[in-house]
Amino acid sequence: MKKSDKLIARRNAIVPEGLGSYSALTAVKGKGALLWDADGKEYIDFAGGIGVLNAGHCPKPVVDAIVKQTKQLIHTCFPVAAYEPYVQLCEQLATLFPHGKNTKVLLTNSGAEAIENAIKIARQATGRQGIICYTGAFHGRTMMSMTLTSKTGNKIGCGPYAPEVYRIPFPDYYKRNDGLSLEAFVKRELRAFEDYLHTMVDASHVAAVVIEMVQGEGGFVVAPTEYVRGLHKICKKYGILLIIDEVQTGFGRTGKWASYEHYGVIPDLSTWAKSMGSGMPIGAVIGNASVMDKTTKGTLGGTYPGNPVACAASLATIEYMKKIDINSKGEKVGKTVLNFFKKLKREVPAIGDVRGLGAMAAIELVKNNDPHQPDGDLAKQLLTACTAKGLLIINAGVNGNVIRILSPLVISRPQLMKGLNILRSELLRLTAAKKK
Ligand SMILES: Cc1ncc(COP(=O)(O)O)c(C=O)c1O
Repeated sequence: MKKSDKLIARRNAIVPEGLGSYSALTAVKGKGALLWDADGKEYIDFAGGIGVLNAGHCPKPVVDAIVKQTKQLIHTCFPVAAYEPYVQLCEQLATLFPHGKNTKVLLTNSGAEAIENAIKIARQATGRQGIICYTGAFHGRTMMSMTLTSKTGNKIGCGPYAPEVYRIPFPDYYKRNDGLSLEAFVKRELRAFEDYLHTMVDASHVAAVVIEMVQGEGGFVVAPTEYVRGLHKICKKYGILLIIDEVQTGFGRTGKWASYEHYGVIPDLSTWAKSMGSGMPIGAVIGNASVMDKTTKGTLGGTYPGNPVACAASLATIEYMKKIDINSKGEKVGKTVLNFFKKLKREVPAIGDVRGLGAMAAIELVKNNDPHQPDGDLAKQLLTACTAKGLLIINAGVNGNVIRILSPLVISRPQLMKGLNILRSELLRLTAAKKK
């Protein structure tokens, strides 16, 4: 029996069913965009720990910073005794992501925890309770973030969910255009949004709208620019806070530090995690002091958030990202992947849509060229086939039919092209076999 098979058998015997798995892959070592399993087999990593490894597996400066910090101080609990890495990271994030003149930052352990805290802050700042979120959204697996999450399959049997959450359709032009031009579609969606404030929940009751510029788990659906700008205006008009969830989109993934930079919009609050720590558990909520400081002492925090080692890892990650110009890498990887996918679409009718922003690029697999006939089975077969050929890749979308690229942005061109060519040949093989 192979070492990987043994490990998977032990895994399945000891961890609960609810902890799903994308594949039967194991991992013992990672470097850059490469991963090795328990039997020493090498993989090109297009999953990047689900968008965590923009700076690659184990970047040396980050490893060094972690080692150095562990020798100095591992934990105090920040409210018990303040330490510099926490403060320095907050200062660094406020400089990278200014939310108006006076920006404040709260550190968390994860993306879900960032979302939880953003909601608590928005409610305290506005004195309102309602939260509006979107179909296709994914914001985490804690109770509020799970409530905000759309995919019902991720929530089965976990309710009752948090109250005062209202869900509206995401402006998904590919699936919901009804033959309209993009401009007319955006107008319709914004009109509908304002209507909801009269028909679903009164504006005076709404604390915040939470939105991803590119839905990550939802299948890399990109929010139209004019929609986001219009939404921002409507929020301002009614005193509703705009929360942009940058957990998956942040830190170079879309070719910019923040995906909202593509939109010319600065949110009231933003949430971060994943690639900001290269794999260490760290997240953040960023907002203007006028919002962030409307919070009562003791309502935010926890034992571990902003742990010194995680802060050191994040500071080193950011410094390294600046040094290697992570954003231009994101842009380059994105261009290569999107061009490759556009060509592939001409060869493979099962590809219904090619889309993305920067290196957040994906293909959507459908039957009969119909956006409403998702082919989740083909996606699953493709993932398994690619894994067998040495390419680790994951899917997304509420129907699991979107193949997404979240490779480290430090991936070399030969590695990227090798991975894309494995994807192409396996997709061609599977779709040809289906025709027979
Ligand atoms: C956009 C977005 N928000 C929040 C989360 C939750 O983050 P975490 O898994 O760190 O709790 C995720 C995770 O995939 C995400 O993609």
